[in-house]
Amino acid sequence: MAKIEPFPFPHEIYPDDWFSRLRREDLFPGDAPIELDLGCGDGSFLARMASHFPDRNFLGVERLLGRVRKVSRKSVVGDLANVRVLRVDSNYAVGWLLPLGFASRIHFLCPDPWPKKKHAARRQMCRMDFLASLHSLLEDDGELLFMTDDEPYFLEALEVQEGCDFFAREPWEERDFFYARTDFEEQWLAEGRTMHRLRLRKLPRP
Ligand SMILES: C[S@@+](CC[C@H](N)C(=O)[O-])C[C@H]1O[C@@H](n2cnc3c(N)ncnc32)[C@H](O)[C@@H]1O
Repeated sequence: MAKIEPFPFPHEIYPDDWFSRLRREDLFPGDAPIELDLGCGDGSFLARMASHFPDRNFLGVERLLGRVRKVSRKSVVGDLANVRVLRVDSNYAVGWLLPLGFASRIHFLCPDPWPKKKHAARRQMCRMDFLASLHSLLEDDGELLFMTDDEPYFLEALEVQEGCDFFAREPWEERDFFYARTDFEEQWLAEGRTMHRLRLRKLPRP
């Protein structure tokens, strides 16, 4: 059972038990699809998606308190009953805390690129164990959407994905479907950088 903190942070989730997986109903009431945004930052993407899709729920995971509080403020100001945010490291959330099979989509947008060789293990999209954990959080047929401006990170993620038999790549051009811009995406596009996109569909485990 998890508590939702009372005002002024009604959108923040604090589990009573950090050592058991949450249940779907601990995140949101009802059966509406739930989308997960890993490393959600200040929550601009979450808030834009939540107001565009009031019939879907959006859960952000972010480790920095200041950014979590910005998500809270945006949710209160926008009256977004379909947003929640969890302050925790995403490795822990994905591996140990979030319910299995709960997410219709997982968004992993503009993560830190960790360019130094000694930090390679922090490039989560290049780790097969991380992909396997994301796979276990998705509903059947669910989607994982990854976007980065960092070409080496993207190419490495692509190579790992090509060796993975439990996700299939699908086409994804910017205007294929409504997809809100994130804060970092806007900043990087304004600097003239290019975004690389990877859209993966969950396959049944062989
Ligand atoms: C470059 S920012 C991108 C934020 C947002 N997705 C966007 O596109 O505007 C990366 C975010 O991921 C968060 N982050 C990085 N590593 C994390 C981790 N292990 N667990 C949770 N959040 C993390 C950072 O604090 C930061 O807010």
